[in-house]
Amino acid sequence: MKKSRFFIANWKMGMPLASAQEWCKRHVGGLTALQKGDNNLVLCPNFVALQSVIELCKPAAINIGAQNCSQHAQGAYTGEVDAQSLKDVGVRYCIVGHSERRALFGETDEAVVNKIVALEANGIKPIICIGEDSKQYHAGHTKAVLEGQLRLVFPVLATLPRALIAYEPIWAIGTGDTPDINYLDDIFLWLREQVMMKAPDTIVSLIYGGSVTPDNAEELINVQQIDGLLIGGASLDFQKFEKIVSLASR
Ligand code: 13P
Repeated sequence: MKKSRFFIANWKMGMPLASAQEWCKRHVGGLTALQKGDNNLVLCPNFVALQSVIELCKPAAINIGAQNCSQHAQGAYTGEVDAQSLKDVGVRYCIVGHSERRALFGETDEAVVNKIVALEANGIKPIICIGEDSKQYHAGHTKAVLEGQLRLVFPVLATLPRALIAYEPIWAIGTGDTPDINYLDDIFLWLREQVMMKAPDTIVSLIYGGSVTPDNAEELINVQQIDGLLIGGASLDFQKFEKIVSLASR
């Protein structure tokens, strides 16, 4: 059976408002062509660009995601953006626990869980990022690290209708290095087993992220338990993004 595939563009802080608007205007036709069959395209621009991207991409019927949200529903949290505002603007997905947020902004496993709860209350599907660093990888501790990052998440995940878990090895993000395919096979099979055991009633899509390019997309998506790709740098360039989606949805 052909699987339904996610192609999630995480633009990080690489696409300022004017560039995001220009990108969408120029490529809305191309996006429409890519959003076919079982493909699920999700663009994640910065907060300020969300509204324009949603409006400009309407004809392509793709989904828009946020890169973060507050773990709180409301209150005195200067600079934070609540999940309800994301819902009101038309956001359907939201990245939580990205390794950059964990490392640079102190996002904890507890905060990740609170964010998932806040998103769920507003009908937004979380894209929950997990991953080990290079030292942990070389020490053979990947599964223990992932298990730790998911420990608090699973009880909440088990109450949701749908969620996405994105495995992004930190050492693969923005480096051009990607894990060996056999290694990914093993990790994703193990992840699937964890999900079946701990959140059996939730539909969970498993996503890979970290240096996805047109050269490796097809091989990555063909890993049996991988349901989609989370694409950083290469998603800023429409030609590369288009190639990734086309090659990986053949
Ligand atoms: P790169 O594709 O640039 O390695 O980034 C991956 C990522 O962090 C997506 O969330």
